[in-house]
Amino acid sequence: MRTQVGIVGAGPAGLLLAHLLNLRGIESVVLDIRSRAEIEATIRAGVLEQGTVDVLNETGLGERMGREGFQHHGIELRFGGRGQRIDFPSLTGGKSVMVYAQHEVLKDLIQARVDSGGSMLFEVSHVSVYDLDTSSPKIRFRTREGALEELACDHIAGCDGTNSVCRRSVPEEALTVYEKVYPFGWFGILCNAPPSSSELIYALHERGFALVSTRSPEIQRMYFQVDPGDKVENWPDDRIWAEFRRRLATDDGWKPKEGPIFSKVIVGMRSFVVEPMQYGRLYLAGDCAHVVPPTGAKGLNLAVADVRVLAQALAEFYRTGSSEQLARYSATALRRVWKAERFSWWMTSMLHRFPGGDEFQYRMQLAELDYVTSSPAAATALAENYVGLPMG
Ligand code: PHB
Repeated sequence: MRTQVGIVGAGPAGLLLAHLLNLRGIESVVLDIRSRAEIEATIRAGVLEQGTVDVLNETGLGERMGREGFQHHGIELRFGGRGQRIDFPSLTGGKSVMVYAQHEVLKDLIQARVDSGGSMLFEVSHVSVYDLDTSSPKIRFRTREGALEELACDHIAGCDGTNSVCRRSVPEEALTVYEKVYPFGWFGILCNAPPSSSELIYALHERGFALVSTRSPEIQRMYFQVDPGDKVENWPDDRIWAEFRRRLATDDGWKPKEGPIFSKVIVGMRSFVVEPMQYGRLYLAGDCAHVVPPTGAKGLNLAVADVRVLAQALAEFYRTGSSEQLARYSATALRRVWKAERFSWWMTSMLHRFPGGDEFQYRMQLAELDYVTSSPAAATALAENYVGLPMG
């Protein structure tokens, strides 16, 4: 088998890259160890930056998002018993975000791939990549049916997530890893209830962080900070709602709308970046190159920005034969990656109680929230990062 670009991983990065390449007449093969059903059911974050929404719309993927997604013009920051709104359009020249779940984006991307007739292989196994520093890097894998295949490529895109085979195939000395693990996790629930709020609420309380998000008029997504070693079994529904009521309480008696909880998970929180995001003719994109804590909702958006840069560079390669843009892929992508890392780290630091943290630290956090919500300059800094910094 032969293709122009071999894409390992059918998540947002891999599938959008295949789509962008297809629009430019570049052939690719996408493969994933998971099944289509598993990919389409994986629950992740749900906030799309303005630039992400624009890319999906401009490349013909925005139809269902336009119908079923929810445009949000702001968020609420809640602390000290009161809520303060940050208005995005007035602070960012008219920008906003879209609440549309990642797995819905994935369904749209997979459908677009099917419609284009492009090659996409699910449930492959034994994936390995090699000859990365030659002009013909290769992917070896076993198909779902059990056949051993070798895919010779001009380029390989590693889009295979946190536990990436592609990243681990790069000689260790060629990569530098930057990592920070946070001393807390998020307990996430999905419940059947009407929305508690028309916009997302990020709350800091003495007992820790809480977030009110949404999936649809009937399904709500909410999170609260827990010890990363905690277990979902420790949290019967009553205890969860009591915790949300306390952390989200306001002086005027606000309460979340409660309903049956049908999903409970605990997710760890870390920041992670690998440099450079390329080795020979292997290019890393999305979670395999960088992870952010979910507080700024940046993960999917970073993957989208990476593959926009990569698709453009690959297009230049096939149009002119020049590798110049490809050689700069990592440097270009990392400038944006580090700024999103900073924003996610900052939001996380401002909004969580740190185990062992003292009262002084908590007062600093409250003062920062007060500043961010009362100074137009500070509010603008939050808003322009939340709706997304420029793509390039
Ligand atoms: C979500 O809806 O899952 C969500 C929203 C905002 C975040 C993180 C997660 O910052």
